Amino acid sequence: MRAGRRDHGDEWWRHAVVYEIYIRSFADGNGDGLGDLAGIRARLTYLRALGVDAIWITPFYRSPMADHGYDVADPCDVDPLFGDLAEFDAMLAEAHDLGLKVLCDVIPNHSSSEHPAFRAALAAGPGSPERDRYLFRDGRGPGGSEPPNNWVSVFGGPAWTRVGAGGADHGTGDGTGQWYLHLFAPEQPDWNWRNPQVWDEYDRVLRFWLDRGVDGFRVDVAHGLLKEPTLADHPGGIPLTPTAMFREVAEPGAWDQDEVHAVFQHWRSVLDEYERADGRPRVLAGETWVADPRRLANYVRPDELHLAFSFGLLTSPWSAPAWKEAIAAGLGAMESVGAPTTWALANHDVVRPVTRYGGGPVGARRARAALLVALALPGTLFLYQGDELGLPQVDVPPAERRDPMWERSGHTSPGRDGCRVPLPWSGDRSPFGFSGGATEPWLPQPADWASLTAAGQVDDPLSTLVLIRGALAIRAALPAFAGGHLRSRPGTPTECLAFDRTASPGPPVGSGPPEASGNEVGVGGSPTVTCLLSMAVDDLVVTVPGRLILASEPVAYDGRSLVLPPDTAVWIAAEDPAG
Ligand code: GLC
Repeated sequence: MRAGRRDHGDEWWRHAVVYEIYIRSFADGNGDGLGDLAGIRARLTYLRALGVDAIWITPFYRSPMADHGYDVADPCDVDPLFGDLAEFDAMLAEAHDLGLKVLCDVIPNHSSSEHPAFRAALAAGPGSPERDRYLFRDGRGPGGSEPPNNWVSVFGGPAWTRVGAGGADHGTGDGTGQWYLHLFAPEQPDWNWRNPQVWDEYDRVLRFWLDRGVDGFRVDVAHGLLKEPTLADHPGGIPLTPTAMFREVAEPGAWDQDEVHAVFQHWRSVLDEYERADGRPRVLAGETWVADPRRLANYVRPDELHLAFSFGLLTSPWSAPAWKEAIAAGLGAMESVGAPTTWALANHDVVRPVTRYGGGPVGARRARAALLVALALPGTLFLYQGDELGLPQVDVPPAERRDPMWERSGHTSPGRDGCRVPLPWSGDRSPFGFSGGATEPWLPQPADWASLTAAGQVDDPLSTLVLIRGALAIRAALPAFAGGHLRSRPGTPTECLAFDRTASPGPPVGSGPPEASGNEVGVGGSPTVTCLLSMAVDDLVVTVPGRLILASEPVAYDGRSLVLPPDTAVWIAAEDPAG
């Protein structure tokens, strides 16, 4: 454990920085233009130097790659594109030697249509036990030719595909004409979580990777596993934007069903069994697109998931009132169940922050400031690969787009390729050290990424990489960041976000984000860290006595009066008056 860490025993996950590795685009170890496990292994020292506590690796299991690995045909083996089990074991051992925890992805909402269980379901026919593992239904209308309900796929188009009778029979010769549900692509049939065999299948998967030594899982689409039993039509009339991630209001039967919690209670018991055996925590982090903070908190009750993403910041516009509200909601809800808040500004499914916040130099500057704020919040932060380099979203040319969302949306959504472009590691032209081989990276890298490579930034004291490394080192070292306590600072301008982190709770100050205490620490007399972010259009002058420890841009500060330029965040240390 690093200096300054004081927590619930060894519950590192309560205040961790977890680095998301989108494996296809992180580092290519075998020169085929696609990232892989060998590439990750070769870059573990970079991650150690960056200062993250853990990595989450997106799926590397056997898959036809209809959704780049989120369509899993064999969840207990490595796809040859990414390596093999021996390579995984070697990577895991090296990560652990470096003090890095490793989370894998588990994908319980659906399998690949090539999973043996789905092949068996197609072959067995209607009414069979094999079909009951998925959500097959007869169609509506003449000859069952219309889908069983009005649900749509997250990727666009209907959420149902018909087999046989004119539908795709996946080569089985099935002529029954039933339909199966897929909330995502047709190649991703949804499991029926009311069937005990599905529970058994996932026990097998969890134990397979836990036995190999992983530290836990990010749970894909955790809020989607159970569907309302009658599969009734959605009410309709509630707008869903093409990029809508919070869908439970418009599609109430498909998401956030109360029965899902029994699954996670069971999974928690499996992980706890491993923790009890060796004292090493195993962690479940849910991908939970649930907007209502109270509903979200249900996922992290003490006997369920350890972490559930609060996506409020990720979906907030660049506005201090919106950020204050998202922070207050994120902290308040989790505090009610004693769980830490799980923050993310980005992931492999959304537009990168630099571009979301306006693009160009303004977007880059805002994204740096946003990260300093996110790193100053109590709880755990998931940092998406490349955000430490300030990478922007790439406008991938239509002919090069690979995300199924592009085709399924009828070309109305560009899809998610723009945040998945392979990382620029070094050099002045593509593949920028991503790949050593002759094969082009699987998505084209912009030529101007020459100025954003990790190697170029590491020696530049003003780079985003150096800033984020510094922030991570300070976060790890100062007791104020180890506790779960946050006090909002009264009297700051509306367009300024301002809060104190303290090692001890102290009295809450002013309005705004409530004091939160996901971790109990109680260290008196140590410095408070004040985090300020200006989202104003002009310089702000703020009085904050203390010592400047980090700033996302140059600022003028005399130990008391701070001139904070627009889109700039600072950390200032002072003795804690309540300490
Ligand atoms: C999650 C993943 C996304 C994937 C989807 C279907 O949202 O993050 O990349 O397409 O689930 O598995």
